[in-house]
Amino acid sequence: MDFERKMLCIGAGYVGGPTMAVIALKCPEYKVSIVDINEEKIRKWNSGQLPIYEPGLEEIISKVRGCNLFFSADIKSGIRESDIIFVSVNTPIKTFGLGAGMASDLQYWEKTAQQILEESEGSKIIVEKSTLPVKTAQVMERILKTRKNGAQFEVVSNPEFLAEGTAIQDLLEPDRVLIGSHQTESGLRAAEEIANIYAHWVPREKIINTNLWSSELSKLVANAFLAQRISSINSISALCEKTDADIAEISYAVGSDRRIGLKFLNASVGFGGSCFRKDILNLVYIAENYGLNEVADYWRMVLKINEYQEERFVANIIKTMFNTVVGKKIAIFGFAFKANTGDTRESPAKFIVGKLLEEKATLSITDPQALANARIDLAGVEGEITFEEDPYRAADGASAIVLVTEWVVFKTLNYADIYRRMKKPALIFDGRNILEHRRLFDVGFDVYPIGKPSLTHFK
Ligand code: NAD
Ligand code: UGA
Repeated sequence: MDFERKMLCIGAGYVGGPTMAVIALKCPEYKVSIVDINEEKIRKWNSGQLPIYEPGLEEIISKVRGCNLFFSADIKSGIRESDIIFVSVNTPIKTFGLGAGMASDLQYWEKTAQQILEESEGSKIIVEKSTLPVKTAQVMERILKTRKNGAQFEVVSNPEFLAEGTAIQDLLEPDRVLIGSHQTESGLRAAEEIANIYAHWVPREKIINTNLWSSELSKLVANAFLAQRISSINSISALCEKTDADIAEISYAVGSDRRIGLKFLNASVGFGGSCFRKDILNLVYIAENYGLNEVADYWRMVLKINEYQEERFVANIIKTMFNTVVGKKIAIFGFAFKANTGDTRESPAKFIVGKLLEEKATLSITDPQALANARIDLAGVEGEITFEEDPYRAADGASAIVLVTEWVVFKTLNYADIYRRMKKPALIFDGRNILEHRRLFDVGFDVYPIGKPSLTHFK
């Protein structure tokens, strides 16, 4: 079949896979290819067992794979044949050298730029999909300007705002699509080409064009603002626990102000995921590099509150269990960093599990999608750990349940049955405030929510 346009995405991860699947679905006249250096991942994308869990993704993949969506490990051919190249490789925190622990590690990004340069002829649009420090497009351009074969490049920034667990919904109905470009004739033309892709299903007024640097920086700032809301409400949850105020009531009362809004005000064990921490650290690093130390300190506090929230959650568990959990069985409900994903990157569960193991607890971990990743994350960690598909079995003989991830399935369990299987007193620490606390109390549990008075049978 002849396609009108050929586009490529380099990086078949949580962003590249779902994003290109939706583009392929909405733009049947385009050939969409996705490549990755990880051949095993490509094999999974081409199989019945996708490498990531994302509600709605399988249905879309089954419609478009082999029609106009193709997964391959042949990066070179992909680059050669495509007019538009999205780059969606990972940009983790640097672990070594200058800026270690804060700055973005751009090694994958730079390798990709070199490879694009090697293989390209003619003119191509390079789309930054990864989240990058402001001014990265300049680096990309500097590499690509050492032109070979007369190739011409226009770099545009098109950051992705999808959240895991709702990726397909977010892609189908985005709040906005941001396209940053040079405000020159060729830059605007390239931005328009990218806008035309999204215009297949996104209303034009939601497609925003800005200069390249505003686009790159907007992505970091959007994540920093979202994380800041969670840290703000989490900081107040600590105050609630001292005053018998109820954090859920406060979230509702405060969030009902339209200027504030109700979203992202759920107190929790702390935020996780591959992006918030990394992107805030990156923002802090950039601010410091420009000598803006107060700006850096301001954003650093958002991370500090997040660490504080995780620490105080575990400290409360240990204190409540008579200051010792040695040999006690504790069931961990949820290991993913949030519901509806198997992703465990930066999950608060890792910190909590690590601390409880240091205290020599015996842990039984259950999660509907994240057990495979949990096994990888905890390989080599010392301590008594078992992994259970079935939450009832995880709770068998346990002294406490620690709920870390807000999976709906945890809300609908038969807690009377679970209570019968547990050691007494049976405790529940609800790190997401999703359970029906009064009912659990009536069943017999002592209940410890976040930012709300605990419900205990002993006074
Ligand atoms: P990921 O680790 O899931 O996927 C990245 C993929 O790129 C990996 O499969 C890796 O093998 C591949 N890769 C690395 N170097 C390569 C190379 N030289 N050639 C080909 N493939 C290569 O990461 P992700 O979660 O999809 O994130 C990608 C980017 O998108 C990051 O910058 C992230 O900050 C940003 N982002 C992520 C999310 C999210 O929810 N995960 C949302 C918005 C933006
Ligand atoms: C986040 C942003 O929401 C996306 O817009 C962005 O594109 C993405 O980062 C990224 O750049 O990677 P994601 O990390 O997938 O998406 O998930 P979120 O829904 O933002 O949740 C992040 C963490 O905050 C989770 O651990 C979640 O449980 C926690 N959270 C969220 C709370 O504790 N309380 C809330 O009210 C909301």
